[in-house]
Amino acid sequence: MFMADAKHLLIVYHTQSGSTSRMADAVINGANHPDVDDVDVRVRTALEADADDLLWCDGFLLGTPENFGYMSGAMKFFLDRVYYPCEGKIDGKPYAMFIRAGNDGSGAMSSLRRILTGLSVREVQEPVLIVGDFDESRLAECEELGLTLAAGLEAGVF
Ligand SMILES: Cc1cc2nc3c(=O)[nH]c(=O)nc-3n(C[C@H](O)[C@H](O)[C@H](O)COP(=O)(O)O)c2cc1C
Repeated sequence: MFMADAKHLLIVYHTQSGSTSRMADAVINGANHPDVDDVDVRVRTALEADADDLLWCDGFLLGTPENFGYMSGAMKFFLDRVYYPCEGKIDGKPYAMFIRAGNDGSGAMSSLRRILTGLSVREVQEPVLIVGDFDESRLAECEELGLTLAAGLEAGVF
């Protein structure tokens, strides 16, 4: 539902074989929790999302698999496209990330952080990282992450 004074939460993710999208679905569920009334949630894939989305939001969540020790190419392409149009315009915006990896994940995490530090945005929650066999029970943490960002924006705590 559109609300004129609602806070805006952007969720951008990429998936190739589907497991990051399972995490994203849980994050989206959390962000749309019925206890959070006043937050408008926008979901985009990394290939769709653009600078207008990042300028629109009051906070954001990024989800990516680790590929070749880095964030996915699609997430990097998103950041390549938004970096200069958003530089200096999104300082201090709160964000958090969720990462899916076969056996590591640290390269995806550090590569995201390096670029986001350059954009002067603020990481406000620990990432959710699911490594190895997909543990369904970890989806609760993804849901919690979405809820925390949405509730925090609504309450003005970030
Ligand atoms: C091309 C490619 C490169 C990968 N590189 C890594 C890697 O460097 N580190 C890692 O932990 N997992 C790596 N993986 C495993 C993926 O992170 C893992 O399969 C993940 O679940 C994929 O997420 P998705 O199902 O959302 O596409 C790689 C997978 C692919 C297809």
